Amino acid sequence: MNRDDSKNAAAAAPDYVLAIAPYQAGKPIDELAREFKLDPAGIVKLASNENPLGLPESARRAITDIVNGLGRYPDPNGFDLKAALSARYGVPADWITLGNGSNDLLELASLALLAPGAAAVYAQHAFAVYRLATQARGARHIVVPARDYGHDLDRMYDAIDADTRLVFIANPNNPTGTFLPAGQIEAFLARVHDGWGGRVTVLLDEAYNEYLDPELRFDSARWVEQYSNLIVSRTFSKAYGLAGLRVGFAMAQPRLTDVLNRVRQPFNVNSLAQVAAIAALGDAAFLQQSYELNKAGKQTLVDGFTRLGLEFVPSYGNFVLVRVGDAARVNLELLKKGVIVRPVAGDGLPEWLRVSIGLAEENARFLDALTATLGSP
Ligand SMILES: Cc1ncc(COP(=O)(O)O)c(C=O)c1O
Repeated sequence: MNRDDSKNAAAAAPDYVLAIAPYQAGKPIDELAREFKLDPAGIVKLASNENPLGLPESARRAITDIVNGLGRYPDPNGFDLKAALSARYGVPADWITLGNGSNDLLELASLALLAPGAAAVYAQHAFAVYRLATQARGARHIVVPARDYGHDLDRMYDAIDADTRLVFIANPNNPTGTFLPAGQIEAFLARVHDGWGGRVTVLLDEAYNEYLDPELRFDSARWVEQYSNLIVSRTFSKAYGLAGLRVGFAMAQPRLTDVLNRVRQPFNVNSLAQVAAIAALGDAAFLQQSYELNKAGKQTLVDGFTRLGLEFVPSYGNFVLVRVGDAARVNLELLKKGVIVRPVAGDGLPEWLRVSIGLAEENARFLDALTATLGSP
C-alpha cells in the first residue's frame, strides 16, 4: 500500500501557502564546515546581523540563576519584563506585547489584521518577512518601488487602498540599511492616521534602532501615544546580543495590543529569554560597547569597499549592502574561504551581498577574502 500522501497533504493547503518561498536564513557555521570540509573554528559568519560580542555576561548570569526553574512554564504575561520595558520607554505595561523575537510580532500583526481580501503595503527590498507574513494570510501584496534602495513614503501613502489593513516600515531597513529621519516618519504617520483612521495600521519595525547615532534617534514611544493605529516593534536580537533566545516586543495602544494578544500563543516567550532581556535592558555598558564596535566596524567595511571601488549603500544598521557584480560567484568563493555572508538575490538584489559587521578580526578576514576573490575572476 502506498502510504505517501504528500500530494494530498499539499492539496489541502491553500494556493497562497503553496506559493510561499520560505525565508532563506544565513548559512549555519556547522553546515558550511560539513559541505566544504572546513574547521568550524576557522569560519567567520557575517550573515545574520547578529551581535559579534555574543551574549552579554549580565544575561548569562540571569539565565544561570533560573535554570532550576525550567520545569515550569514561563510567565505567559511577562510581568517583570513588561515592567522593565514600561519603565524604560514610559508607556504603560499593558501597551506592550512580547514576542518570540520581533519576527513573532510581525506575524501576530499580520495574523490579527490580514486575511484574504485584505492588503498590506511595504517597500521593494524591505525586510523579507513582510512578504511572507502577508502571503501566509492570503492577503494581497502592494509592493512600492524603492527610492535609493529605501522606502518612498509618499508613494507608499498613495499605494494604500480600501483593502489595506497594514503598512510595514523597517527603519533602518534590512537588507539595504537605509534610514528615514523622524520628520518623514512622523509626517507619514499623521497622514495615514488622518486619511484612514484606525482602518490602516502602521507597523514601524525598529529592529536596528540601538545602532543609530544618538542625534538620529527619536522617541517612537511618544508616537505610540499620539497615533492609535501605530505598532512599534523592537528586538533583543541585535544590539542586545540575544538572537538565539528569541525575544522582542511591540508597543501599541490598548485596542491594537488587545488584538495582538488574542492571536498570541500563551507562552510565546520562554523563561530564559525573559530574564535575559531584563538583564540586557539594564546593561547600558554592553549596549554602548555594541554600538561603538559596530560603528568602528562599519567604517572598516566602508573603507575596504571604497578601496576596492565597490558601490555600497550607506548603512544605519549592523550590516552593509555591497555591490559585487556576480554575487553568486563571489559568495561561493567566500564560502570556500570560510566566510559566510548573505546573498540577497531573493530581495531583488542579485548583484549585491549583505555583510554583517563583525569583530575587527572578522571584518579583516572578510575583506581579505573579498579582495582575493575579486582579484581572481
Ligand atoms: C528589519 C528586521 N525586523 C525584524 C527582524 C526580526 O528579528 P528577531 O525576530 O530576531 O527579533 C529582523 C531580523 O533580521 C530584521 O532585520
